[in-house]
Amino acid sequence: MSEGISQPDQREPIEAHAGDKDLFSKFDDIIALREGLLATGQTDPFNLVMEKVLSPTRAICNGRETILLGTYNYMGMTFDPDVVEAGKQALADFGTGTTGSRVLNGTYQGHKECEEALRDFYEMDHAMVFSTGYQANLGIISTIAGKGDYIILDIDSHASIWDGCAMGNAEVVPFKHNDIEAMEKRLKRIPEDAGKLVILEGVYSMLGDVAPLKEMVAVAKKYGAMVLVDEAHSMGFIGDNGRGVVEDAGVIDDVDFIIGTFSKSVGTVGGFCVSNHPKFEIMRLVCRPYVFTASLPPSVVATAATSIRKLMHGSNKRAHLWENSKNLHKGLRDLGFKLGTEEPQSAIIAVIMPDLQQGAAMWEALIKNGLYVNLARPPATPANMTLLRCSLCAEHSEEEVAQILDIFEKSGKEIGII
Ligand SMILES: Cc1ncc(COP(=O)(O)O)c(C=O)c1O
Repeated sequence: MSEGISQPDQREPIEAHAGDKDLFSKFDDIIALREGLLATGQTDPFNLVMEKVLSPTRAICNGRETILLGTYNYMGMTFDPDVVEAGKQALADFGTGTTGSRVLNGTYQGHKECEEALRDFYEMDHAMVFSTGYQANLGIISTIAGKGDYIILDIDSHASIWDGCAMGNAEVVPFKHNDIEAMEKRLKRIPEDAGKLVILEGVYSMLGDVAPLKEMVAVAKKYGAMVLVDEAHSMGFIGDNGRGVVEDAGVIDDVDFIIGTFSKSVGTVGGFCVSNHPKFEIMRLVCRPYVFTASLPPSVVATAATSIRKLMHGSNKRAHLWENSKNLHKGLRDLGFKLGTEEPQSAIIAVIMPDLQQGAAMWEALIKNGLYVNLARPPATPANMTLLRCSLCAEHSEEEVAQILDIFEKSGKEIGII
C-alpha cells in the first residue's frame, strides 16, 4: 500500500442515501406476524431443538422425553443397525466427503452402488442420485421442460417443483388440486405438437391425500404428455414393494420419471430420479443442479443403499404402519378433531386448526405434554389452513399410538379446542 493515500476506516459505516430501499422490507408482514405471535408468550414452533435423539420415535426436547410424530422417518430406518454400520464403514474407508461434483472427482463406488440399489428397487433402467430431493426436482424439471414446452401441474405441488418450473423457461399451467377434469381442460388447450410435461405427486404432504394417478396418468398419455411423479412421501411405504402410489395404482410402467428423496423413508439425505427413458443418462451432463454441486458424502450413499435394499423386504413394517395410520385417524376423529382426509390415505394425518393462534397454542400444549407434531401454516398449506401434521412411523408401537391420542385429548381440552 503506498503511503499518503488515505484508506477508509474499514469499520466506519457507509453513509446511507435518502431513498435507499431496504431489501428486507418485503419481509415486514411475516416479521410482524411472528413477533405478534411470540409477544403473546407463545413458544416459537419453528425453533425446536432435539437435544438428544433416542430412537426413530423418541427424543429429548426442552429437557423432557417426547414422542416424535412430526418427522418423515416413515419406515424408522435412522437407527437400523445394518444401515448405521454401513455408514460407519464408509466413513472409515472413504473419509468424510467427496469434495467435488459427480461429473469430476465426486463419483465413488458408493454412489454407483446407491444408483444400482435404486434401479433394483424400482426395476427401472436408469437412476440418478442428487444431493437432495429439492435439487432432483429443480434439476430434472428445469432441464427437460424448456422454452416452448408446457408444464401442467397440480396447484398444491411442493415448493421444489414450483422452483424447478421457475428455473426453466417452459409455460407453466397449474390446475386445481387432484381435479382430473381441470387437468384435462388445460391439456386440451395446449398446442398438439408442443412438448408437455405433467407433474404430479403420489402423496400430497400437507393433507396426506393421494393423487388419483390411474385416471390422471391415462389423461396425460391421451394428450401425448410425459409424466413425472414425485413419490417423496410414499416411497418405502405405499405399494406392495414400497414403490409408491404409482405402484399401488398400477401405472408405474406408464410414467416417465419418478422423483424421490432419501430424507424420508430412506432415513438420511439425498434425492433421486429413476426412469426408463433411453436417453436418460444425458441428464448427467446437462442438468445443472447435478453438475454444479458437490456429491453426497460416502457415508450417506452407503446408508441410503443399505436402507433402500432393506425397504425391498419391508412388507411387515408397511402393514404395521398402515395399522398405525388407521388407528390414529379413527382415534383423532372420535375425539372430535377435524382431519384433512375422510379416510387415512398415507402415513400423514393432518389435523385442521381453526386459525394460526389456536393452532400454535395447541402445538405448544402438545409439546408441553410430550408430543411433537409439525405446525404448518400458509403459504405452505392449501386454502390458507393451519394444520397440525402428524406423520407416523413404522416403529411407533400400538401403545405409543394410544399414548399419542391421550396427549391429543388432554391438550385439546386444555386449550378448549375439543
Ligand atoms: C413432495 C416433496 N418433494 C421433494 C421434497 C424435497 O426433499 P429433500 O428433503 O430431499 O430436499 C420434499 C421435502 O419435503 C417433498 O415433500
